[in-house]
Amino acid sequence: MNSLDLVPVPREVLRRAGTFALKHSTRIAADGPAADTALLLQELLRPGTGIPLPVVPAAARAEGDIVLILTPDDAGEPEAYTLDITPERVEIRAPSTAGLGWGVQTLRQLLPAESFRSTPVAPPPLTLACVRVEDAPRFPWRGLMLDVARHFMPKDFVLRLIDLAALHRLNVFHLHLTDDQGWRLEVPSWPGLTSAGAWRRETPLGPVDAPTGHDGTPHGGFYTLAELREMAAYAARRHITLVPEFGFPGHTQAALGAYPELGQAGPVEVRTRWGHSPHVLAPNPEALRFISDVLDVVVDTFPSPYVHIGGDECRRDEWRTSGYAKARAAELGLASVDALQSWFLRYGIDRLSAAGRRAVGWDQVLEDGGVPESTVVMAWRDFAADTASEALAAGHDVIQCPTRTTYLDHAQSELTSEPPSFYGVATFDDVAAYDPDPGPDSAPDSGPNPASDSDGGAVERRGRILGTQGHLWTEYMRNPRDVEYMAFPRLAAIAEAAWSGRDRRLSSPLAGRMGGYLERLDAIGINYRPWDGPHPWQRSR
Ligand code: ACM
Repeated sequence: MNSLDLVPVPREVLRRAGTFALKHSTRIAADGPAADTALLLQELLRPGTGIPLPVVPAAARAEGDIVLILTPDDAGEPEAYTLDITPERVEIRAPSTAGLGWGVQTLRQLLPAESFRSTPVAPPPLTLACVRVEDAPRFPWRGLMLDVARHFMPKDFVLRLIDLAALHRLNVFHLHLTDDQGWRLEVPSWPGLTSAGAWRRETPLGPVDAPTGHDGTPHGGFYTLAELREMAAYAARRHITLVPEFGFPGHTQAALGAYPELGQAGPVEVRTRWGHSPHVLAPNPEALRFISDVLDVVVDTFPSPYVHIGGDECRRDEWRTSGYAKARAAELGLASVDALQSWFLRYGIDRLSAAGRRAVGWDQVLEDGGVPESTVVMAWRDFAADTASEALAAGHDVIQCPTRTTYLDHAQSELTSEPPSFYGVATFDDVAAYDPDPGPDSAPDSGPNPASDSDGGAVERRGRILGTQGHLWTEYMRNPRDVEYMAFPRLAAIAEAAWSGRDRRLSSPLAGRMGGYLERLDAIGINYRPWDGPHPWQRSR
């Protein structure tokens, strides 16, 4: 069956009479850069359809072809596309190869779900409903974050998740590479980061608030620079920017486990409890050399214009009790040791700026002296304050990351059969109701509302909301199957919040398009959460 259950919902979908037949003889006509997108389309469709889809020059186009055309951008929407399907041809037009790429992803969704299988199960032709789709994203930053520090995920799974992000027309894949519980990034000049920092002795069991011991099993792994370059290139081919995160000065215990001289706690091991460590970088020359060496490797490995430097949850305990840190803060002219946080971050940001990259940080980068206005702020602490408004007023561009709706490590229901999760509940409906920029006339409980204060008054916004993203923190996701259970189907709602306009979402509720969506997930073989609750083998353990 053909599906019009498109996710995220496009701006405009016009149904027409008739169908287009995708046959063994169907070709793709495209020139220049559009031919690269044609090769991506060919690569995506071949396994499940068995159709070879040769790429031919645009001048050779004929009836029955799929045609990809780059057009000028009249509306200032670089990622826009139109997809026109008639009985005679399929035509995708866009001002950029990214726009063509999003048209390709929509075209995939219009094919029968069987085309997502690993090998053809039905002989061609495959029929496509005739439609005209006119589409463009609401936000330029539409992301998915994967934490590979708490649980290491195999490279092949990272690639699979990038491919799935592209299917949802997401364009940022944020890889959380370093944390207290593991270091996953090869840094040739600091080999201990991966020989020691990538491995923890054991993993805690039970809920974070009521731990019930440890599993006694070592856990770890890391990615070589060749693997990281492969991931970035795989993402780029799908018009996704792989944004790497190396966080400091807190969340660094795995690095301290390898190089205690970077801190002041003496020897520590890679952290074997969840939560954030009291052990942080010391304000010494070794720590600065560590930051600059790691950032140099990051810049050299990832072409992303953005580099995430963390900056969250840096506990000040060690600085406050350390004579060295106090003397150093005084020598630097800082008001207190607390301002060492901003001093560390500014050091890293300067290094990134010199390399032509823009820093991104979690919203605590606003504290104790803050960071340059050019730093993009991920506003996540919706439970603590309206950090998005604060950042926007201070002139920062903001990515909306409210924990209540974008933290996909929260349980998907109140059922006791749900597998282990972190803190609250974020149901599919909660995420589907989330609007990253709700504006003055939406429900007060639908999410953070940086456009107005509690009385509905305007708050000055000097920065812009760039978009939003979903977050897969993996304390309780031990492997790819666990990640898939928590990500799907909620990722559909994240993608829709990031891509689709508010009116369009209201006029075509996402829940009504889940039929075709879940058929596609079934054909791919994704371990998603069923609508009514977990399967027996997905339940709490
Ligand atoms: C965070 O959840 N610590 C960004």
